[in-house]
Order: sequence, then structure tokens, then C-alpha cells
Amino acid sequence: MTAATDALAAAADAARLAPSVHNTQPWRWVVDGDRMELFAVPERQLTEQDPDGRLMVLSCGAALHHALVALAAAGWKASVTRDGGEPLAVIQAVGHEPADPHDMHRLQLLQVRRTDRRVVTDEPVAPEALEALAAAARRGGARLHVLNRDQVLQLAVMIEHSGEAQRHDAKMQAETAQWAGGSRPDGTGIPAVSLPAETPLTTVAERDFGVAGALAAGGGHDSAANYAILYGEGDERSDWLAAGEALGELWLVATGRGTAVLPLSSPVELDFTRVALRRMLGDVGWPYLVLRLGIADPEHAGPPHTPRLPASAVVSVLPGSGNGAV
Ligand SMILES: Cc1cc2nc3c(=O)[nH]c(=O)nc-3n(C[C@H](O)[C@H](O)[C@H](O)COP(=O)(O)O)c2cc1C
Repeated sequence: MTAATDALAAAADAARLAPSVHNTQPWRWVVDGDRMELFAVPERQLTEQDPDGRLMVLSCGAALHHALVALAAAGWKASVTRDGGEPLAVIQAVGHEPADPHDMHRLQLLQVRRTDRRVVTDEPVAPEALEALAAAARRGGARLHVLNRDQVLQLAVMIEHSGEAQRHDAKMQAETAQWAGGSRPDGTGIPAVSLPAETPLTTVAERDFGVAGALAAGGGHDSAANYAILYGEGDERSDWLAAGEALGELWLVATGRGTAVLPLSSPVELDFTRVALRRMLGDVGWPYLVLRLGIADPEHAGPPHTPRLPASAVVSVLPGSGNGAV
């Protein structure tokens, strides 16, 4: 099964492009013949901001989504077993046929996807685009609740509170400083060039990473932005994994439609704001992530891609699998 091993290793390689909280890339793949296991990496968990591992597992779910898109783009059929434990998921390559151009285009969209923290333009996201994003979230295994005007104002207050609480927590501040701006080991974290040089004018504050950014965020106010909660029926590791797959699928569709996505996770990181978000969902769903959705300025280039760890740091191919180390 050398061809399957190669395809799985290539999919794990492509999955490095997935978004992750603070670009921690908290995943690891083990390829063994025609199957591949996905593990979370607690060494890259944010122990202060994400003590339960919710955002770590969610990030792994986004990587799982990306790996499956890459496999499909190469013409591989796969079966997936998802679990709340370790491994989080097992992908089995089950057959190959000529690649479908639509699947190849989906992989291309992941290759251009990025987090854009610039102020969005005055052009609203079309209602049918919001519906397409909600459908994408459902396909991935979660739900999207787009906030109404009153709820956006409530969210603004909530994020003000979560941001304030985090700014006054020295351990959280130190943890953020490890991953944002400045310099750190190659291939990790959020470089200054991806962070706004000046505080953008927004209804709901962006995350304050506490470091000087270098990204021209653009003038204006993001009053045309939509805010939404990605949520689901449970609050277990298997639900967080599904939420990550949903995020990957939603962001892929958004990229194809020119819609910028900015995750805002601070209200999910603190118990009191997570409870308030849950109340906004009428106590019937569990919030995983807040998303800002908007149309980015097409005339100016967005931020460059953030760095990634090398494949050798996140992908292992077991000896005897047929193609040696990645
Ligand atoms: C679970 C999760 C939470 C995130 N939370 C935030 C956030 O609160 N604020 C922010 O500016 N970006 C947030 N991001 C975006 C990441 O910082 C971004 O995905 C990462 O730096 C990689 O960059 P890229 O998306 O451009 O590839 C989050 C991403 C994920 C997957």
C-alpha cells in the first residue's frame, strides 16, 4: 500500500495549513500503511487560556478537515473513525479513483485561506452567503448562529469583560506573549505582520495580543460585519473535534465567496463569558467559538501566511509503511 501511505503522508502535510489557536498547531499524525492516526499534542496546549483543551481539540478538528480535503483532492476515498480519546481520529484510505476537479479546487481554497484581522469593508455579507456558511458548519457537524443587532452589542460587552479579565491575568499575558509578535522558534505563533498596527475600529473588539503589530488594518469601521457563534449539542472532546471540522469547512466556503473570517475565542476561554454565550443560544447549545464575518478590502493585500512547523515535526511514517520518513 505504498501509494496509500504516500497519499496519507501528503494529506497530513497539507493539513499543516489548518488554522489553530495562536498558531500552536497542536496536532500530530502517525501514518501506518493505509491508515493514519491524529493525536493532540498537550505540549502545545494553552494551559492558561485553554485548560480543558477545547481550543486545542478544535484546532485538531480543523487539521482533520484539511487532511480529508487533501485526500479527496488526490482522488482517495477514506473512512474516518472519530473518537474523543487518543487518537482523536483514524483515517483509513479505502480506494482511489481519478480526482474530481471540484475536490481539487477545494484544496486550492485551503491553500489561500488565512486569518484577516483588517477592518472589513462596508459591503455586507449577502444573506445567501451566510446561509451557505451555516450549511457548511452543519456539514462539518456543528451549527452557526448569526447574532442580531442587540446580541452583537451584548457580545461587545462580553468581549470587553473577557479581554479585561485576561489583560489583568499575568499568567495569561505571559502565555500570549509566547505565541504572538516578537520572535520565537521557527514555524510557530502569530508574527507581528499578521497583527494590526493600530487598534481597528470595530463594534466588537478584536483580541488584544499585547504586542505591537505591523499590519495596515485599514480605516473605517466594521459596522457591516456579522458576528456568529459556532456551537453544537455537546461539550465533550468529540464535539470540539466536530466543531473544528465545521470551522474548516465553513472557512473553505467563506474563502471561495470572498468572505473574511476572524475567530474570537477569548469569550469561550473564560467560564463566565462562556456561560453568557450559552445563554445567548437559549441554553440549547454549547458555544465553541465566536466568528466575525465580513468582506475584506479587495484592493489591498491582506496579511501574508503565518508560518508552519515542518512536516517532520508533526508527521511520522512508521517503518515498514512503505516510504520511509516524510
Ligand atoms: C480555535 C481557534 C481560536 C482562535 N482564536 C483567535 C482569536 O481569539 N483572535 C484572533 O485574532 N485569532 C484567532 N484565531 C486565529 C489564529 O490565530 C490563526 O488561525 C493562526 O494564527 C494561523 O493563522 P492563519 O489562520 O492565517 O493560517 C483562532 C483560530 C482558531 C482555530
